[in-house]
Amino acid sequence: MRHTRIIVTHYGGPDALRVVEEECPEPKNGEVRVRVLAAGVSLPDVMAREGIHPETPLVPYTPGWDLVGVVDRLGDGVSEIEPGQIVAAMPISGAYAEFVCLPQRELVPVPSGLDAAEAVSLVLNYITAYQMLHRSAKVKPGERVLIHGASGGVGTALLQLGRLAGLEMYGTCSSRGASAVSELGGVPIDYRNQDYVKEIHRLASEGVDAVFDGIGGTHIWRSRKALRPGGRVVAYGLTGSLRGGRLASGRSGRRDRFSGIAIFALYIAGGWLLPGRKRVVPYSIQTLKRLRPALFRQDLIALLDLLQQKKIKPLIAQRFPLAEARQAQELLGKGGVIGKIVLVRNGSSLESGAA
Ligand SMILES: NC(=O)c1ccc[n+]([C@@H]2O[C@H](COP(=O)([O-])OP(=O)(O)OC[C@H]3O[C@@H](n4cnc5c(N)ncnc54)[C@H](OP(=O)(O)O)[C@@H]3O)[C@@H](O)[C@H]2O)c1
Repeated sequence: MRHTRIIVTHYGGPDALRVVEEECPEPKNGEVRVRVLAAGVSLPDVMAREGIHPETPLVPYTPGWDLVGVVDRLGDGVSEIEPGQIVAAMPISGAYAEFVCLPQRELVPVPSGLDAAEAVSLVLNYITAYQMLHRSAKVKPGERVLIHGASGGVGTALLQLGRLAGLEMYGTCSSRGASAVSELGGVPIDYRNQDYVKEIHRLASEGVDAVFDGIGGTHIWRSRKALRPGGRVVAYGLTGSLRGGRLASGRSGRRDRFSGIAIFALYIAGGWLLPGRKRVVPYSIQTLKRLRPALFRQDLIALLDLLQQKKIKPLIAQRFPLAEARQAQELLGKGGVIGKIVLVRNGSSLESGAA
C-alpha cells in the first residue's frame, strides 16, 4: 500500500516542503501504525523548517509535532490496543503523513465522538498552556496574567484555560485578534500600536502576577517590567525570530538549534540576580515530556476530558488537506491567524475509526 507524506528537503522557506508518495511504513516490534486524521500546523514546525528550533531534525525529514489518528496495524509485541482505536501523540516530527509508525508508549487513547482537529489542538497547544499555567506559574484564582500572542494557537489555549482557572487576563495581539481575545475573556492590548508595559501598569497598577512570553529575545526583559514584585515570566518561544514566516535575521539555509535559546539563560540568570524578585522561568513541552512522561499523559487525558465536557473549545482557524501543507505553513507565517491550523485527511476531520 502506498501513502503520501510531506518532507522538508532543506532548511529555508515554504518551498522546502515537498509532497512524496512511497510505500507505507510497516510497524516494527513494539510499534503501532497510525492512520493520521489530523496533524497540527504550528510555529515550531515553521521554526524547524527554518533550522532554528532546538528540535530541528536533520533534512530530509517529515514535519509535524502533533497528531490524532486511528490505530491501523500492530507490530509484534503490542497488546492492549486494538485497530480502530482513536489515539493522540506528539512525535515532534513525522505527523504530516497519511500513516506513521510510533512506539505504543507514545499513544494516548482519545474518547470517541470528538472532532479530530479540535482534539489535535490539545496535544501541543493546550498541554503547553496547561502546564505553563499550572506547573510553571502555578496560578491561583484571581491572579492577573499577561498573555502575549493571545489570539494565536497557544495564546487562545491560555485564555480558555486561564478563564477556567479564574484568572484576570490581558492579551497582546494585533488588531485582527482583538475581538477573539475579548470573547475568550481577555483584555486585548494591540502590541503594534500600544506600549504593553505602560498599558499593564495603567490597567493593573502594580503589574501582573505572571506573563506568558512566547516572543523571546529582548522581549522577555520588557515582559519582566510588566510584573509585580514576586511575579514570574514564563518564557517559552521565539516568535520574535520570525518575520512573515521567515527568519527575521534574513540568514537561512542551515541548522542552528541553539543560538536562540542562549539568550534565555541570560534572562533566567538576570531574573535571579537583579533586585525586584521578578523571575524568568523557561518552559519546554518536550523537555518536561522527556523528564516526566507520565505528566504529559495525565495532562492530555485531563484536557481530553475537558473537551468532551465542552468546557474548552479549540478555535480552528483553517483545515487544509495534507497535500496543501505548504499553503498551511505560508498562511501561519503571514500572521493574523486566530487559533490553530490543522491538516486533515481528505479535507475533513470528522472521521472516526472507519477506514
Ligand atoms: N516551549 C514550548 O514547549 C512551546 C510549545 C508550543 C509552542 N511554543 C512556541 O510558542 C510560540 C507560539 O506558537 P503558536 O503555534 O501558538 O504560534 P501562532 O499560532 O502563530 O501564534 C503566535 C501569535 O503571536 C502573535 N505575535 C507575533 N509577534 C508578536 C509580538 N511581538 N507581540 C505579541 N504577539 C505577537 C501573532 O499575532 P499576529 O500574527 O496577529 O501578529 C500570533 O497570534 C512559538 O514561539 C512557538 O515556538 C513553545
